[in-house]
Amino acid sequence: MTNKNTPSPILIAPSILSADFARLGEEVSAIDNAGCDWVHIDVMDGHFVPNLTFGPCVIEAIRPHSKKIFDVHLMIDPAAPYLEAYSAAGADIITVHAEADKHLDRSLQVIRNLGKKAGVSLNPATNESVIEHVLDKIDLVLVMTVNPGFGGQKFLESQLSKIANIRAMIGDRPIHLEVDGGVNSETAALVAKAGADALVAGSAVFGDGKYAVNIAAIRAGAENAIV
Ligand code: DX5
Ligand code: ZN
Repeated sequence: MTNKNTPSPILIAPSILSADFARLGEEVSAIDNAGCDWVHIDVMDGHFVPNLTFGPCVIEAIRPHSKKIFDVHLMIDPAAPYLEAYSAAGADIITVHAEADKHLDRSLQVIRNLGKKAGVSLNPATNESVIEHVLDKIDLVLVMTVNPGFGGQKFLESQLSKIANIRAMIGDRPIHLEVDGGVNSETAALVAKAGADALVAGSAVFGDGKYAVNIAAIRAGAENAIV
């Protein structure tokens, strides 16, 4: 299902931040079997965001549990010293925050030189102009629709115009527009209509344990909005 706003099919990337950390490997297998497209892994350092989560060793440990793309969201500052470690641990997409990197262009080149897909994430207050001069060095833009650090927060509708602006900036470049925070079957429709093609969802997937039903509902919410 695609349209002019979302040239590629809708991809669903459950965030394991909302998973049962005591059974992380099983949870990754479960969302894989439930039909997710990517596995979204929220790395937090307790400095860039007020929470602390996974080091490279955890990604290494869950890597054998799914062949799906590991979409690693680095909410860490600095990120540059750790790119190689997350790459070696099994990340397929490595996304750094524009706000946490004084040398964004160089970090993106490092990620691609490691053979990985390069992404840039923007916090809600960050203008889309920050990606203007790196559009040819990225494979993904991750728009935060919550202030990063925690799952289960309220979706920020203020970001919809930014999503639409970034979709226009992307043009016909092969860049995914991913949205992250407060995504459920209702907000999925809003972000898909605005131009998102990859949707991160944590609490909306893991909340009640019905992973396949929830992934399908989010996908349907987005696809029905762009027919
Ligand atoms: C927030 C993370 C998000 C979060 C999404 O800092 O980057 O990926 O886990 O969780 P929900 O979908 O519950 O907002
Ligand atoms: Zn995330």
